Amino acid sequence: MARLENKVVLLSGGASGIGAETARLVVREGGKAVLADRDEAKGTALARELGPSALFVPVDVTEEATWQKAVATTVEAFGALHGLVNAAGIGVRNTIEDCSLEDYRRVNDINSLGTFLGCKSAFAAMKAAGGGSIVNISSVLGLRGSSAAMAYCASKGAVRSLTKYVALYGASSNVRCNSVHPGYIDTPMIAPRLDQAAGNRTFREYLEDLHPLGRLGRPDEVANMILFLLTDESTFSTGSEFVCDGGLTA
Ligand SMILES: NC(=O)c1ccc[n+]([C@@H]2O[C@H](COP(=O)([O-])OP(=O)(O)OC[C@H]3O[C@@H](n4cnc5c(N)ncnc54)[C@H](O)[C@@H]3O)[C@@H](O)[C@H]2O)c1
Repeated sequence: MARLENKVVLLSGGASGIGAETARLVVREGGKAVLADRDEAKGTALARELGPSALFVPVDVTEEATWQKAVATTVEAFGALHGLVNAAGIGVRNTIEDCSLEDYRRVNDINSLGTFLGCKSAFAAMKAAGGGSIVNISSVLGLRGSSAAMAYCASKGAVRSLTKYVALYGASSNVRCNSVHPGYIDTPMIAPRLDQAAGNRTFREYLEDLHPLGRLGRPDEVANMILFLLTDESTFSTGSEFVCDGGLTA
């Protein structure tokens, strides 16, 4: 039997990278995937590729009304909502000295507030379905610091703590909530920077050296961990941190 038979999963950031790879796995495992993203072109193209088990809904994760519409559309189209993956995010490099208030707000609005709005908007529908699983994509930078990513670290630490809150609140309704902490993953988020210089080597080489496994991660490696958390194979896991980082935090 497929691992997500009859399960309906809403994925922010579902048009690209880790979110898109997870949507592919959801459909391959017998589930329905609703791609919620601000990138209409990529989102509709992927939904078309995945066929009748997938749907694209335009969502800006910082706008509550678009989240509410996405949840309503999901339930209308597929009958219920069992899983939510909060994968929409942006990566910006800045320091405590050069990060403007505007940049700090932009990163935290998308990465942190967007995750809050996703959890809030989906909660009632999951409760109505008898429970569900929320997977919030944090980062290794939600577990440890980086002097080059001030606003991003703050936003991903907030996602980690929010996850524990939702897990505790959701426990009596059988709504589980876990965070996933990827190392550096080869997706469109970091791809444009990989060929840039970092001292006497490329940024890719610098990042590869950070991971004891000696390479960047692939989106499907993170998607497999998310898939596990969406299925009934993980029913005793909630409020926990799942690390997928090639040994980086070890
Ligand atoms: N790639 C990495 O190295 C890495 C490492 C750790 C954590 N992460 C996290 O994984 C998640 C997925 O990132 P990815 O690497 O797949 O990046 P990606 O750029 O491939 O995908 C991010 C998606 O989020 C969408 N998005 C951005 N802002 C949005 C908004 N306001 N509303 C709706 N959608 C929006 C984008 O359109 C895009 O489709 C992010 O939260 C990111 O912070 C990535």
